[in-house]
Amino acid sequence: MSRKRGVRTDAVHAGRMVEDSLGAVSPPIYQTATFEYASAEQGAARFAGEDDGYVYTRFGNPTVAVFEQRLAALERTEAAIATSSGMAAISTTLLGLLRAGDHAIVTDALYTAALTFLRQTLPAFGVECTVVDATSTAAIEDAVRDETRVIYCETPGNPTLALVDLAAVGAIGRNAGATTICDNTFATPINQRPCELGIDVSVHSATKYIGGHGDIVAGAICASREMIDRLWKTHIQIGGCLAPMDAFLAARGLQTLPLRMRAHNENAMQIAEAFVGHPKVARVIYPGLPSHPQHELAARQMGGFGGMVCLDLAGGVEAGRRMMNAVDLCTLTVSLGEVKTLISHPASMTHSMLSPEDRRSVGISDGLVRLSVGIEDPEDIIADLEQALEVA
Ligand SMILES: Cc1ncc(COP(=O)(O)O)c(C=O)c1O
Repeated sequence: MSRKRGVRTDAVHAGRMVEDSLGAVSPPIYQTATFEYASAEQGAARFAGEDDGYVYTRFGNPTVAVFEQRLAALERTEAAIATSSGMAAISTTLLGLLRAGDHAIVTDALYTAALTFLRQTLPAFGVECTVVDATSTAAIEDAVRDETRVIYCETPGNPTLALVDLAAVGAIGRNAGATTICDNTFATPINQRPCELGIDVSVHSATKYIGGHGDIVAGAICASREMIDRLWKTHIQIGGCLAPMDAFLAARGLQTLPLRMRAHNENAMQIAEAFVGHPKVARVIYPGLPSHPQHELAARQMGGFGGMVCLDLAGGVEAGRRMMNAVDLCTLTVSLGEVKTLISHPASMTHSMLSPEDRRSVGISDGLVRLSVGIEDPEDIIADLEQALEVA
């Protein structure tokens, strides 16, 4: 009787390089650009796709393959492509699927560079994009046209933690003949598996939770074997391949991802609950709180609510700035998904170039503070935030 292995077992064992001739238990780092052929005939067979040996690291590499197979096992997809960054995964997927004359629908609560790529770069190549409210399935459906080929979303969305109903978007995409793509960076395959919910492609910034330690920039595309074979042709032309050393670190990160995500989920819930009703905090935004407007959807499509929490400070921009200067344990920086708690204030940092009105139109209020809750003792994180809020 065949038994499906659990996620924690797959995180440790999937993709192990069982064929390594010396029996290395940890995956060797194949730090090589090229692979030698035993003969001209073998070289010809590899280029013809008749021999599946390696050719050149941009096309594939054994260390990179460990990461790809392990991530695909966790995401419960047939295959994956590792990329040099999350943006390489996103741009490769979109360029692989869209042609001039096509139309794409994109939800509004999105990582800024992805939104810019869809809204500014793709139109220069003749692709029209319609940006819709991430939280409205009806708005997504209403935006469908005959030329719609892609529906792109991110959930939970950066930085507002707005959610997209993935099962509903998957169904809209199938009816429209459009490929659906979800950026699964915030949730990770431990908390959410978009392709099990009917989405065609799940993309990641592996720089975040997957790597987990803030020491690599990496990305990935997860999908069916057929879709991955199609996107691989674009991937090798664009050239955003992952370096073997970074693939080793990403594959190692995956081994502890289930344990780290459990700690991130638990700490984030504790921190969210601790600041509900705090006099300096107008609102705590966390999908795990019953007060989150889409809490019911979060409970339905996520196995855990994640490590991202937003505190909306009553004192606006100045309060946010003062809090950033007062934190001690929390690290003041962009990015997310590291073992340490990271804090940022979009209105004075990442989104300071936008007008307050433009920020508000994408749900970023002046006092919004974004926390990527780490795996430290939650009491220590809470104590640091409390002392910083005293001056906010
Ligand atoms: C949700 C999300 N997707 C994609 C990216 C881009 O990832 P990378 O920086 O690895 O290119 C980021 C980066 O912050 C992100 O937050």
